[in-house]
Amino acid sequence: MARKREESGKLRVLIRREAIGRRVGALAREITRDFRGERVHLVGVLKGACIFLADLAREIRLDVSFDFISVSSYGKNRESSGEVRLLKDLDIRIQGLNVILVEDILDTGQTLGYLLRVLRQRRPRSLRIAALLDKPERRVNQVAADYVGFHIPNEFVVGYGLDFAESYRNLKDVCVLKPEGERMRGKGPASNGQSGQR
Ligand code: PRP
Repeated sequence: MARKREESGKLRVLIRREAIGRRVGALAREITRDFRGERVHLVGVLKGACIFLADLAREIRLDVSFDFISVSSYGKNRESSGEVRLLKDLDIRIQGLNVILVEDILDTGQTLGYLLRVLRQRRPRSLRIAALLDKPERRVNQVAADYVGFHIPNEFVVGYGLDFAESYRNLKDVCVLKPEGERMRGKGPASNGQSGQR
């Protein structure tokens, strides 16, 4: 189905799978260097980050553990909201661990801003952020990632974990989903926020 849509011209490849693979490898080498001799605990933010986390974890040459957290944001289309709610907490305590929050995309920064506040209180040994994609133009909450795959323009992207209404997560490339109809008209490129609103 995704393929059919690609053929009908709704999708434009922005970052090819080969480039993603090379960049994920480079990020993993950086993490491996930064934490030499230590263990790192990857925390994936569901659901978009799962594919990036799976690839990143396998390239890191250290003792790696991982866990997942899930949050939901209200009114991501309303720029001012920034309300975030915890849907699924971590299974494992992070006190004393080298935690790396793993995100598919850093957009307004509201999700990671919230997660940083919550996780810092749990006294990890260190707390860093790895984001495959960074859309700095959209930032509302000034969060910076320590490891960034690609800076991208303010376009609506899907694939490699990113969805539109839960579709396209399994695309191997990161693609721009071209605007259609009222859904995006007049609003400019939408947030890479909550499913169904992007
Ligand atoms: C997306 C993405 C980040 C967040 C980034 O999640 O995975 O978690 O939005 O946006 P922000 O910087 O504006 O907070 P989404 O809510 O779409 O959920 P998903 O990962 O399940 O697709």
